[in-house]
Amino acid sequence: MVNYRSLLAVLSLACLSSTTAVIAQSEDKADAMQNEFEKALSLTPDIDNGRKLYKLCVTCHGPEGWGDDNGSYPQIAGQLTGVTIKQMADFRAGNRDNPIMRAFTSVRALGGAQEIADVSAYIASLPMTEYNGQGSRRDLELGREIYLRDCADCHGEDGEGDVKKHVPMIQGQHYKYLERQYRWIRNGRRLNANKEMVEQIENYTAREEKAMLSYVATLLPPTEKLADADWTNPDFPNFIRSWRPDPTRERRGSLR
Ligand code: HEC
Ligand code: HEC
Repeated sequence: MVNYRSLLAVLSLACLSSTTAVIAQSEDKADAMQNEFEKALSLTPDIDNGRKLYKLCVTCHGPEGWGDDNGSYPQIAGQLTGVTIKQMADFRAGNRDNPIMRAFTSVRALGGAQEIADVSAYIASLPMTEYNGQGSRRDLELGREIYLRDCADCHGEDGEGDVKKHVPMIQGQHYKYLERQYRWIRNGRRLNANKEMVEQIENYTAREEKAMLSYVATLLPPTEKLADADWTNPDFPNFIRSWRPDPTRERRGSLR
C-alpha cells in the first residue's frame, strides 16, 4: 500500500529543490548579465561591424535612429554609448519589460558583449534630429523650475546625461516616449529604474509632470550633435522612411 505521507514528503522535497534550483539559476543569470554589461563597456567597439548589425534595428528605429514622434520608438541616435549598452543588457535580462526588444537583443539575434558594444557605438555616432515630438507649451516655466531643481543633478542642466553614472541623455527625446518611460519608472514596470529617481518622482501632480516632461522635450542637443537640414543616413540609401521630422513645426528652446 502506498504510504501517502512519505510520498508527500518526497514530492514537497522535490518541489523545494526545484524552486531552489530556479532561484540559483536566475541568480546565475543576473550575474552573467552584469558581467556581460561590464565586459561590453570595457571592449573597444568596432563601428563598422556596428553599422552592419544596425540593419537589424532599422525597421523600427529608422535609418537615422530618430524614432517616431508618436512615441512608439525613441530617438536613440547620439545616446551615450554606455547608456545604450546598459539598456541593451537590461532588455536582454528582462529588466525592461519589452518582448520585442528582448528578442532583438537576444544572443541569437545580436550576439555577445562585443556586438552590443559595436552597435551601441554606431548609434552614438549618428547625428540627432532637433525636431523631436513636443508636449504642451502651457507650463514650460513651471517645468523648467522643477527640472532644474529635481532632475538636473543627475540628467544634466540640458538633459545631456552622465557618462560615468550611465544616466541617459534625455534632450531631443520625443515627448510621448518620455512620458511612457517616466510612467513605467514610477509604477515599477521598468525594473532597471534608478531607486533615487523613483523616490524623487513620487509626489508630483499630473500638471507638474506634464510641465516638466514638456520642458525636457524642448531641451536641444548641442549643435555638434545635430544633423544638417535634410540629412539622411548614407548607410541606408534605399530605405523607405516612415517618419521624417517636420522642420516647419514651431521652433522650440525659447526658454533657454
Ligand atoms: C521590432 C521593432 C524593434 C526593433 C527591430 C528594434 N527595436 Fe529597439 N526598441 C523598440 C521599442 C518598441 C522600444 C521602446 C521600448 C519601451 O518602450 O520600453 C525600443 C527601445 C530601444 C532602446 C531604449 C532606448 C531608451 O532610451 O530607452 C534601445 C537602446 C534600442 N531600442 C536599441 C535597439 C537596437 C540596437 C536594435 C537592433 C539590434 C533594436 N533596438 C531593434 C523596437 C525595436
Ligand atoms: C538620482 C539620479 C536621478 C534623478 C534625480 C532623476 N533621474 Fe531620471 N534616470 C536616472 C537614471 C540612472 C536613469 C536610467 C535608469 C536605467 O538604467 O534604465 C534614468 C532614466 C530616466 C528616463 C528614461 C530615459 C530613457 O531613455 O529611457 C527619464 C524619462 C527620466 N529619467 C526622467 C527624469 C526626470 C524628468 C527627473 C526629474 C523629475 C529625473 N529623471 C530624475 C537618474 C535620475
